[in-house]
Amino acid sequence: MVNVLFVCLGNICRSPTAEGVFRKIVKKHGMSDMISIDSAGTGNWHLGNPPDQRAIEAASKRSIDISHLRARRFSSSDFLKFDYILTMDRQNLKSLRRDCPVSFDGHLGLLLDFLGENNFYDVPDPYYSDEHAFEIVLDLVFEAAENLFKHILNHHI
Ligand code: 4NP
Repeated sequence: MVNVLFVCLGNICRSPTAEGVFRKIVKKHGMSDMISIDSAGTGNWHLGNPPDQRAIEAASKRSIDISHLRARRFSSSDFLKFDYILTMDRQNLKSLRRDCPVSFDGHLGLLLDFLGENNFYDVPDPYYSDEHAFEIVLDLVFEAAENLFKHILNHHI
């Protein structure tokens, strides 16, 4: 089993979107029994809440249901459970690097490092923006998640 965790700030926009997208890709390839997927936030403002309505609607337009997800905060015990911890931006990566134990032997990095040759580091935070920003999140996340899936297949399965 390969355990993958996506992390953003609130766990109501970008990381639940990434969780839903990656789950769809993994399911499409019949690999749901081999790859476990979760998401979390570094902040605590929205604990227990469903994703932002705009994120739910944008995902639903691409036949992805994330409405059942509930926000949780990243916990130091996640370093014990996950092989891939992928943050949506450099700010959240910095937060996790601060807390990462030296014993962690998984991959801690940016989701967009899997975008291939690019100049993007951060999935832009759509929270204070409009619906269009949620489409950009989905476009970036889809492409990176496809590459992440191929990477995991090549290296672990
Ligand atoms: P996310 O977006 O990190 O993609 O879930 C945000 C959601 C809420 C807040 C910030 C970003 N907030 O400040 O409440």
